[in-house]
Amino acid sequence: MLRVFMIFLFFALWCTCSSEAKKPVGCFSKKELVDHAEHFMAKYLHWSHNHMIQSLEDPNSRTEPSCSNFKLQTSSADYNNRSVSPWRYRIDHDEERFPSRIAVAECLCEGCVINGEENRSYNSVLVKRSQLVLKRIKCPLNPDMYSFKVTMVKVPVACTCLRPISSQQ
Ligand SMILES: *[C@@H]1O[C@H](CO)[C@@H](O)[C@H](O)[C@H]1NC(C)=O
Ligand SMILES: *[C@@H]1O[C@H](CO)[C@@H](O)[C@H](O)[C@H]1NC(C)=O
Repeated sequence: MLRVFMIFLFFALWCTCSSEAKKPVGCFSKKELVDHAEHFMAKYLHWSHNHMIQSLEDPNSRTEPSCSNFKLQTSSADYNNRSVSPWRYRIDHDEERFPSRIAVAECLCEGCVINGEENRSYNSVLVKRSQLVLKRIKCPLNPDMYSFKVTMVKVPVACTCLRPISSQQ
């Protein structure tokens, strides 16, 4: 009896998990595709993502930070303002992808900001994370209709400061 119950439980859980993560299958018009994609992506994208894209697109908040004009602000809550390997974000656009806009980090300096100046004995390097995206593809039998391909992409999210690789200790 317990065994039957365990098997039942296994299938119940398996069904819930697989329906959670399942992408819409079939061919859709462009409009239907966008609706499905937004619904699907809502599980993976958080409010902070949209908020960040909006603030990056706001023309009033547009500053062009660079390595030479970067000022370390040790009282700031923002990691980027206290980092010795500062970065900025730009928006990567791809109309064939959902989400079509992704914020990607770019390091401001090659070296790191030590004692108020760039020191090339250190390296600013990008930290990337994997993100799930949907790619729009044409349906093979009907080129006016579209389908999805689920893909993982590596998105630069910040920079960190490293010592260059060296054989000496
Ligand atoms: C970080 O620095 C930028 C540029 O000086 C500034 O506009 C922003 O408000 C700072 N962020 C925080 C949370 O202090
Ligand atoms: C840069 O960092 C190295 C290693 O810590 C240090 O020896 C050097 O004095 C620094 N250079 C400057 C200009 O601060």
